[in-house]
Amino acid sequence: MDQLSEEIKSCKKCRLHENRKNAVPGEGDQRAKIMLIGEAPGKQEDEEGRPFVGRAGGTLEKLLKSVDLSRNDVFITNVVKCRPPDNRDPKKDEIETCRPYLEEQIERIQPGLIVTLGNHATHTLIDKKGMKEIHGQRFEYEDITVIPMYHPAAALYNPNLESTMEEDMEVLKEMEEVEG
Ligand code: URA
Ligand code: SF4
Repeated sequence: MDQLSEEIKSCKKCRLHENRKNAVPGEGDQRAKIMLIGEAPGKQEDEEGRPFVGRAGGTLEKLLKSVDLSRNDVFITNVVKCRPPDNRDPKKDEIETCRPYLEEQIERIQPGLIVTLGNHATHTLIDKKGMKEIHGQRFEYEDITVIPMYHPAAALYNPNLESTMEEDMEVLKEMEEVEG
């Protein structure tokens, strides 16, 4: 995994490498049972080379805490590992070019559960759209359970979502309890 992270840090396979300060491979427990996948690094993530360390990261940590988990208990990464300029959405070809890294990470960690945070991660992994309908439901990716959830940034704009997100997070607690 360290070697893979090094490879990502020096990757120039798509145009997103041009404006990045730091690629953000992802971090956490290499043997985590739960993997969280966001969209793309933002400004703070790009500065630090770490996922979810800005405002959305604060929300994510709070959500994890609500089910007695911390960042160290899970593995956190993104669909694309480099920050798109001006925080635009990652493009289809960028997602496709970066995708093998994500697939390799899933392969190595072998999580029991993947949480896709927001539409991009959800669409990339299980080709589903429409968070309003699908959040909290169970899907599958290569025999791994996938549960789409709202992106933590969504709660920054719509605080009403936070209780929905907390409810969806409950399943993480069950997961820890069942598998110890
Ligand atoms: N938003 C994301 O999708 N990923 C991050 O790492 C930070 C913010
Ligand atoms: Fe490489 Fe992914 Fe960064 Fe593109 S976004 S340069 S494919 S690591």
